Amino acid sequence: MIEARGISKFFSVLNEKGLAEGLTAVLNVSLSVRDGAVVSLLGPSGCGKSTFLEILAGLQAPTDGEVRIDGKLVLEPLPSTRKEMEDYKRRYRFISPLANGVFTNRPRHDIAMIFQDYAIFPWMTAMQNIVFALKLRASGHGRSGRAEMAEKARFYLNKVGLAEAENKYPSQLSGGMRQRLALARALSVEPKIILMDEPFAAVDALQREKLQDGLLRLLDDARAGAAPISVVMVSHDVQEAVYLSDEVLVFSPGPGGTVRNRIPVALPRPRARTDPALVEIQERVFAILQYDLNQESMYSI
Ligand SMILES: Nc1ncnc2c1ncn2[C@@H]1O[C@H](COP(=O)(O)OP(=O)(O)O)[C@@H](O)[C@H]1O
Ligand SMILES: [Mg+2]
Repeated sequence: MIEARGISKFFSVLNEKGLAEGLTAVLNVSLSVRDGAVVSLLGPSGCGKSTFLEILAGLQAPTDGEVRIDGKLVLEPLPSTRKEMEDYKRRYRFISPLANGVFTNRPRHDIAMIFQDYAIFPWMTAMQNIVFALKLRASGHGRSGRAEMAEKARFYLNKVGLAEAENKYPSQLSGGMRQRLALARALSVEPKIILMDEPFAAVDALQREKLQDGLLRLLDDARAGAAPISVVMVSHDVQEAVYLSDEVLVFSPGPGGTVRNRIPVALPRPRARTDPALVEIQERVFAILQYDLNQESMYSI
């Protein structure tokens, strides 16, 4: 269970005059994802989706609010008094507040993240990228052998249609293939939670449908095997978001992104892409986004 309560994030940025100015990236967003559910975040560019996702992952500290996974805080709130700060420093013996997530809670949360820019290592082959992630995960989880890791890497490369590319470097792969490699790497660590930032954006339409269905099968299997995987996904594709999700959150245009609408998608799985009930929800979500776009263009006249 992922629970985010009242998350806000403010940045300090320099304006044209070189003066510091406050920027609200995320404003009072709450979210609850039960085990095995898929939730999508939709909204125009700049409305705070990536920032919110990174806060869920514990990669950024919220300015306000807290994220809990199975009841445990992802990041401890930053101390607000001098006394608390001293205790905090004594406890963690470092300066960076973000590191408390890295060293205390995070390894236990079993989260895999797919970044908008993939974050794969250009100097490693496809296979090495995955084995690297598996090695990181293996420390503290007992030893798994080199051969075992390679086998697992191959299994997930195959799942995303990259079996032939295991010895290629990212520079030798297309954008869509790099995106699939990032997906294979996230799946390979067999996490309980997958956070994805526009994971299928660079993939062509046919491949995208295949990957979506592959992901749904994997989630179904995980649910059947009593080890459900929860997904929070940023998307810019209404059809994809509704087809995959149990709930779609539409952000208002940013900056200052907050959740404008929550649309439940209470349709049984497996779903048919052409199911009229599904299409109807897609049209509703589309109309909401369209409304925001129209408002924006009215302001800019
Ligand atoms: N580290 C940062 N410093 C200052 N502003 C930031 C930072 N990260 C994001 N922003 C700003 O916050 C807003 C939301 O960004 P982002 O979360 O990337 O939006 P989205 O993913 O929805 O496109 C944008 O206006 C962006 O410029
Ligand atoms: Mg983004």
